[in-house]
Amino acid sequence: MAGNITFSMIKPYAVKDNHIGPILSMINEAGFKISALIMTVITQQQAEQFYGVHRSKPFFNDLVEFITSGPVVAMVLEKPNAVEDFRKLIGATDPQKAEEGTIRKKYARSLQANAVHGSDSDENAVIECDFFFSSKDRF
Ligand code: CMP
Repeated sequence: MAGNITFSMIKPYAVKDNHIGPILSMINEAGFKISALIMTVITQQQAEQFYGVHRSKPFFNDLVEFITSGPVVAMVLEKPNAVEDFRKLIGATDPQKAEEGTIRKKYARSLQANAVHGSDSDENAVIECDFFFSSKDRF
């Protein structure tokens, strides 16, 4: 059965470009409850751990440098079928391939600066939500 939480992070350029408000509105309008949220700057160590599955990829160092370059907005989102529904809302990883009306199509600058992260499985959603938020910070 599909889980009911996913993890999302609004990435540095989308924060810098003033897109936090519109992105949160789209998330609300799509029926997600925001049950935890923080605006923070990720350390290099956190970024290397968070994106650890991409360690062997050629873009890993650039990705870590980018994600630590400014504040991000991290959040836990709740809704039935959260992972799949959120991935539909944000669109393809590469914004050039994302459907019209999706968050990445509207607000991404590039493949790396693709506006938002969304968990890719229920298992990773739990790991990623736990990575940023203890139970006392979820409501
Ligand atoms: P995200 O959903 O946060 O998960 C991993 C990130 O790596 C992805 O979004 C992109 O920002 C980035 N990424 C994935 N593939 C590439 C690529 N080929 N070149 C540069 N960055 C990439």
